[in-house]
Amino acid sequence: MCGIVGYIGDLDSKEILLKGLEKLEYRGYDSAGIAVRNEDGVTVFKEKGRIADLRLAVEDDVTAKTGIGHTRWATHGVPNQLNAHPHQSASGRYTLVHNGVIENYHLLQKEYLADIEMKSDTDTEVIVQLIEKFSKDGMTTAEAFRYTLELLHGSYAIALLDAEEAQTIFVAKNKSPLLVGLGDDFNVVASDAMAMLQVTDQYVELHDLEMVIVKKESVEIQKLDGTVVERDSYTAELDMSDIEKGTYPHYMLKEIDEQPGVMRKIIQAYQNEQGELEIDQDIITALNEADRLYIIAAGTSYHAGLVGKEYFEKIAGIPVEVHISSEFGYNMPLLSKKPLFLFITQSGETADSRQVLVKIKKLGHPTLTLTNAKGSTLSREADHTLLLHAGPEIAVASTKAYTAQIAVLAITAAVAAEKAGRKADFDIVHEMSIVANAVQSLVDSKEKMEQIATDFLSTTRNAFFIGRNLDFCVSMEGALKLKEISYIQAEGFAGGELKHGTIALIEEGTPIFALATQKAVSLNIRGNVKEVVARGANPCIIAMEGMEEEGDTLVLPNVHPLLTPLVSVIPLQLISYYASLHRGCDVDKPRNLAKSVTVE
Ligand code: M6R
Repeated sequence: MCGIVGYIGDLDSKEILLKGLEKLEYRGYDSAGIAVRNEDGVTVFKEKGRIADLRLAVEDDVTAKTGIGHTRWATHGVPNQLNAHPHQSASGRYTLVHNGVIENYHLLQKEYLADIEMKSDTDTEVIVQLIEKFSKDGMTTAEAFRYTLELLHGSYAIALLDAEEAQTIFVAKNKSPLLVGLGDDFNVVASDAMAMLQVTDQYVELHDLEMVIVKKESVEIQKLDGTVVERDSYTAELDMSDIEKGTYPHYMLKEIDEQPGVMRKIIQAYQNEQGELEIDQDIITALNEADRLYIIAAGTSYHAGLVGKEYFEKIAGIPVEVHISSEFGYNMPLLSKKPLFLFITQSGETADSRQVLVKIKKLGHPTLTLTNAKGSTLSREADHTLLLHAGPEIAVASTKAYTAQIAVLAITAAVAAEKAGRKADFDIVHEMSIVANAVQSLVDSKEKMEQIATDFLSTTRNAFFIGRNLDFCVSMEGALKLKEISYIQAEGFAGGELKHGTIALIEEGTPIFALATQKAVSLNIRGNVKEVVARGANPCIIAMEGMEEEGDTLVLPNVHPLLTPLVSVIPLQLISYYASLHRGCDVDKPRNLAKSVTVE
């Protein structure tokens, strides 16, 4: 949550910072600001709202070759101009942007800053005031910065300007992501390489508890004890076209449309030259040696994990538990004797999941991360990584990452099964290519999906999604999609569970989206639909070809029964998209949310 950027070089930094922040808006978008430094000193512009609002506030006639910027997802203090970053020290000498949470900010404020009048309600302001206090006590800026960092408990990615030290941006990182980008005669700082791809594709990764002195012509990474760290740069494997909307009105629609291509890319990525599926042998050994797999994830990734459980149990014969990361870390169940932990996280930065990883590593258990972000925190810190190959997902609502997660989980389970000598009763590569075609035909049926959104969701204030077995897992994802972008209250239920309480909410016209793709429970789900229809519900039945009945709203192309989630979720994504669009919501940046949830 929150994104930061910095630039030091020969060009006017304003536009570079603003463009960078636009690329980071997925990380938070309730307020934003930049601070630029020129011979007149440091000038700060900040605004409540989006980068577009900030742009209007930035004065054209201020030019400066050094600057820092921030886009915010509020944690401490409401989203307003006062709480927006950058924050400045009392004298105005120091200006700072921060992504993270300082847990002991109150204690530090009481102990060191009792006589300073704070201008904001943020934890961040404490950092900048502390730096000024220690520099007034006689420390150099680097010393004051380092001393302050040692006092902080929590997470931070920080960029700091000193009005008296024109040639430097001081940078530090702990737990929150941060990269330094390298250029000829300039250097940059960003929470994500995407932000600065406009000027460079060369990046240096920063590790926790590192501080960096960034100048126009040099970058020096130090540990907090002052030891200098040498680290090679890498080329960001991103293309501008991956991160642009192109002709699409929204990233979400682009990402929904990309799903057939992502399916095919995943099959290729996990095939060897002989066309056989291949997964790193160490991962397969870890899976097959484990007596239980614990899947840890949040949100959409948790929903993918529920489907993954079915795969590992049914295909590979490995017992699985799926847990919500924010719960698991603070209420750990009794663990099996030889557990393996699988973290599913699109961003690889989710703080709720990371706190579990840290605890599990302390216990000495093996760990594996399934992520879309190579080099992300959870990838670096786990023993093994599996990549999604989905390309950057920018819309807050996860779509292609969900289907990519399910596809990679299916492939991994199939390879683990084969290596353990379990004969699969289906050819997964063949079945996945059928899925890719099925997904293509669904994303090509947008008019139909829009019509469903109009027919069922135009005026309702709530909606229910029901299914059984794998359809239940997808129902939960369908409900999450709808509520997060359209603000219609939506819940996903096991079909049989509604009558145990929730059916009381069914009124005349309440929309019920029922998935019927699982033959074994086909009659049961049809029965559940009848129960709600008898109480006035308006059913939208989405059935698998071969299981359809007269009057069903949508028939899905037939795919292997275990792979139906990859197909049944597509109409739910599109219906949610159109419901959000029709209600005039901000599809890609729904209220109160951020793409990368880096606070607990
Ligand atoms: O990056 P992660 O997969 O760890 O993110 C977890 C959730 O925050 C995320 O899946 C969220 O639920 C989606 N953006 C919802 O569409």
